[in-house]
Amino acid sequence: MGMFSSDVKSLDALFVDVLKQIYYAEREIGDQLEVMIGKAKSPELKSGFEQHLTETRNQYERLEQVFRMHGTDAEEVTCPAIDGILEAGNGMIGKIDDDQVMDAALTHAAQMVEHYEIVQYGTLSAWAKEMGRDDCASLLQKSLEEEKATDAKLTRIAESRLNAMAEGQRSPQPA
Ligand SMILES: [Fe+2]
Repeated sequence: MGMFSSDVKSLDALFVDVLKQIYYAEREIGDQLEVMIGKAKSPELKSGFEQHLTETRNQYERLEQVFRMHGTDAEEVTCPAIDGILEAGNGMIGKIDDDQVMDAALTHAAQMVEHYEIVQYGTLSAWAKEMGRDDCASLLQKSLEEEKATDAKLTRIAESRLNAMAEGQRSPQPA
């Protein structure tokens, strides 16, 4: 299926279509996080992924709530954007042996996903408000905040890894 499941003639129809895309994406992201938990080397990154997997499953159920509130059946629509992001992440991860490089690649892959989700939830929440559906907007906003917090946490993890590496490089080297 392409980007849109049907003719999109109204903001409401557009809202439902993007809702179906993120519903598909959250399930795919959950599957991917399980793989990433297995590959992460630093305990901090691993536990960050574990925590976000729990959040992701809640977000999936929250989307079902939004579908119900809207009066639409929960349905997934393939989203080529998230397919591409996950494929790009997997492509890099498959070629890495070094632990530090693996964590760097995983963090990068996860942040690409978070930025995609921030766009989807931010837009959906704004459209819901525009249509007078503050009930839907507040649920979508909740997921948006979780994605933003995850992104910020990944940035902190990346920075502390880089600092640790720089620290290591400054240590006196044996002659
Ligand atoms: Fe998510």
